[in-house]
Parts: sequence; structure tokens; C-alpha cells
Amino acid sequence: MSLWRSPRLLCKRGQVTERPDDPTTIDHGTLDPVELPSAPAAARRYLDLLKGCLTRELFIDEEVREVVWWPANVGLGEPKAVWDILESRGWLLVRPTTAPGERTEGRDYPPRAETMVGRSRLDNVEELIQHVLADDIPGDLVETGIWRGGTVIFMRAVLEAYGDSERTVWACDSFEGLPVPDEERYPVDAALRIEGNESMAPGQQFLMRELLAVPAEKVRANLARYGYDDDRVRLVEGWFSDTLPTAPIEEIALLRLDGDLYESTIDALVHLEPKVSPGGFVVIDDYNSIEACEAAVTDYRADNGIVDPIHEIDWTGVWWRKRAR
Ligand SMILES: C[S@@+](CC[C@H](N)C(=O)[O-])C[C@H]1O[C@@H](n2cnc3c(N)ncnc32)[C@H](O)[C@@H]1O
Repeated sequence: MSLWRSPRLLCKRGQVTERPDDPTTIDHGTLDPVELPSAPAAARRYLDLLKGCLTRELFIDEEVREVVWWPANVGLGEPKAVWDILESRGWLLVRPTTAPGERTEGRDYPPRAETMVGRSRLDNVEELIQHVLADDIPGDLVETGIWRGGTVIFMRAVLEAYGDSERTVWACDSFEGLPVPDEERYPVDAALRIEGNESMAPGQQFLMRELLAVPAEKVRANLARYGYDDDRVRLVEGWFSDTLPTAPIEEIALLRLDGDLYESTIDALVHLEPKVSPGGFVVIDDYNSIEACEAAVTDYRADNGIVDPIHEIDWTGVWWRKRAR
């Protein structure tokens, strides 16, 4: 579980089946049965391997996590001098990483993995792309909020595995982490302030801002690592509020939102959801784990009369299929 998703910071819901303020029902419904495109057994094995690799679920027993010096750690009795000595020798203090189940469910902040979304949400990406291809839904695939690029890499791999040679994967991110929340305009984003960090500069107080800042060069290197540094993955660099209104994305078959904040979610919905083709899909990664994100989705759907049923993927992610309107 990502640190900013900790129950201490955020209101994580239990199993919610109905929301009085939203006319739609939340369920675990599956898609209508259609004949899905098939991929050769080797391609399906490749996608499965990729899920284990991009999440590092496969290597979790070998994984270690760096113990960083942080004021909160002082309470554990580790003086900064220990870190200074280690640093001067080029050593790191590490500990074994998360419990395997947490990684599978995409609940932790992985030290090295290219994605934090976990296996269920990658399964969902594959399933929805299969339906896009089976139903020939026009448009590209988009993720807003890509971090190290793992989900984007996976989207591109699914297209390849199922023989699509046309669609582009758009990867939208600041590559600087989250924006400093505009608390006046979006007061609900203030709830993501980390308790106990009030003495820090305003921009630093917010959830894991630096940990989410992955430079574009690093993302390009990750794409190259998996052989997808081609022109079918296109980076849209900058704050969503600046880039999305004019991004050269014309038609979308799958829109995946993973920007955490109300601001980031509403900006992506306002500028990109209208471009989703009828029969296309909208996925919201943080819907059940970040109240600000859910609020943005609820407001957008209400303002636009969207009543397409919302389906749960796992403990946090949801999706809906856009009907013809
Ligand atoms: C939770 S991470 C995304 C995780 C990613 N989908 C994965 O597969 O692991 C959130 C990302 O959203 C980006 N982000 C959030 N709000 C943004 C905004 N308003 N403009 C640009 N990027 C934003 C951050 O830089 C960060 O990379």
C-alpha cells in the first residue's frame, strides 16, 4: 500500500455496495461475454511474466527496501550519525520488503518496481484492452499519472501481444510528482496533508511528493528496458491543467486515471473523458482509497449525467464503460 494511502492519512472504505449520493450501483460485474481476441500461448505467458516483473511480485522474496533517515525514525533511536557513516562509505541500510500479498494487491510503495498498481489492476488493463480490440472501439490508450511508467509499458505490451499495430499509448505526467494542492479551489485535496509535517514548507507537506517525481529520462529508460521506446508510446509532459486541454490526443478507447488528487482527477476527466469513444472505458485507480479522487469522479459524473455502472477491480480501482450518449 502506498504510504499516502495509509489508513492513518486517508479514509479507506470497506466494502461499499451502494452510495446514496451516486445513482449508480457499485458492483463486481463483469463485461458482456464476447469472443475475445486470442494471443499465442507464448504471448500470454509473456504478459503474465511481465505482470510479475513490472510489479516485482516475482522477486519479492529477494527485495530489500532502503531505510532512509527521516525525523520520524529518530524516535526509533537511530541517530543521523549512523546514516552519515553509512553514506560516507557508500553503504545503505536496508530491510526486507513488504509482505507478498501487499504487492500483489498494489498496496505498498515498491522500491524498484516500475508500477505500484498490483496484479489485479494489470489484469484489468489487459481485460479491458481485449474488449476494446474485440469490439473494435476506436481510439488510443491513455494513462494520466504514470510514475515510473509500468502500467504504460504493460498497455503497450498488451497491444503487441494481441497483434494491434495501430494504437498509441499516451503517458501523461508532470514527471515532477504531484502539484502543490490548490486548497482554495479544491479544499478536499488538503486532506492529503501528512500529519506532523506542519513545520515543513507548504510544497513538501503533501503526500510523498518527491517519491512520486520520476524524471522523463528515467521513464524513457524504463520503456527502453522493455523494448518499448518507440513512437507508439508518447509522453505528454507537464501539469495536467497545462497539457491536457491541448494534448494532441484525438480519440480514446481506454482512459486510465491515476493522479490521486481531486485536481488531477477532475482535470483529466474534463479534458479527456469527452474524447472516450462510445463503448470505451474509464478506469479510476484511486477511487476507493482517496476521498478526493472519488469526490472528483462523483462531481464529474453528476455534472455530466453519467450513470454508467461503476465496477470494482479491487480494494481501490474501479472502471465504467461509456455508453453511447
Ligand atoms: C500514483 S502515481 C501513478 C502510478 C502509476 N500509474 C503506476 O503504474 O505505478 C501518480 C502520478 O501522477 C502524477 N500526477 C499527479 N497529479 C498530476 C498533475 N496534476 N499533473 C501531472 N502529473 C500529475 C505524479 O507525478 C505521479 O507520477
